Amino acid sequence: MRSIALSNGVEMPGMGLGVFLAGGRGATENAVAWALEAGYRLIDTAAVYGNEGEVGAGIRRSGVPRADVFVTTKVWNEDIRAGRTRQAALASLSRLGLDYVDLLLLHWPTTGKEEAWGALEELYQEGVTRAIGVSNFHLHHLDDLAATARVSPMFDQVESHPVMTNQALVDALHARGIAVGAWSPLGGPRVNLLGHPALQAVARRYGKTVPQVILRWDIQRQVIAVPKSSKRERIVSNFQVDGFELDGDDMALISSLDLGLRVGPDPENFNF
Ligand SMILES: NC(=O)c1ccc[n+]([C@@H]2O[C@H](COP(=O)([O-])OP(=O)(O)OC[C@H]3O[C@@H](n4cnc5c(N)ncnc54)[C@H](OP(=O)(O)O)[C@@H]3O)[C@@H](O)[C@H]2O)c1
Repeated sequence: MRSIALSNGVEMPGMGLGVFLAGGRGATENAVAWALEAGYRLIDTAAVYGNEGEVGAGIRRSGVPRADVFVTTKVWNEDIRAGRTRQAALASLSRLGLDYVDLLLLHWPTTGKEEAWGALEELYQEGVTRAIGVSNFHLHHLDDLAATARVSPMFDQVESHPVMTNQALVDALHARGIAVGAWSPLGGPRVNLLGHPALQAVARRYGKTVPQVILRWDIQRQVIAVPKSSKRERIVSNFQVDGFELDGDDMALISSLDLGLRVGPDPENFNF
């Protein structure tokens, strides 16, 4: 799996496992351990997912050395608004059972994001996290941070999948030197992209599954996808995205399926 260099030189794996709603009572721990055994080296969690403890347990159970795993977590909105970013991030580390994370994000562009960014900068300088970034930030949210920031965000994770490519934002972020992550890369748990006839036709041409061609499309457009599955065979199969290349026509075809159809909240209008 090819990695992508963040603006500070830290290498981030080109694809990972997402664990939102991955389940409790060992389900998230299993998913993380199975993913690491299958070759994944990036795990995407968040304080609000309530499963950082299981993520840490899965990493330890896998036997993969800590230094070889890239762990992303996110500071939740209430903590950003309450000016508790530092405490929230340290609490995440404690639940994960880690003495540093690889990437720490502000989860949504909520009130207080500028002050919260200052807290992330301090944590970065202290080595609590190897890189810092944001999630669900549009360009004007980034401009708000830029007014007081000393360190520019290195990463932005946004909704992106074939019916909501968000390509203009992806391109603008890349132009600013910000690495881009895709959440709900398969369309999330409620939208069934897997039965999409055009995607099925592409998948047939390469002898691959629909998730594999979507995730390959992400790799080729330099977008770091974090598909979620709690099922071992799907976790393994979703990672089998090396060894083939979508041609230009199929890249364009997948991109042309864009309907601007969000499956999650709009960063311009959210109420949590
Ligand atoms: N920053 C943010 O605000 C934000 C928001 C949303 C999500 N995220 C991150 O992005 C990650 C992924 O997003 P997501 O969980 O919403 O959606 P997703 O990864 O696009 O889709 C997950 C759904 O697809 C199913 N699935 C996965 N692989 C499959 C396969 N090979 N065949 C058939 N079905 C398959 C999963 O079911 P099974 O589990 O049953 O396999 C689950 O229902 C999250 O886990 C989280 O880490 C971030």
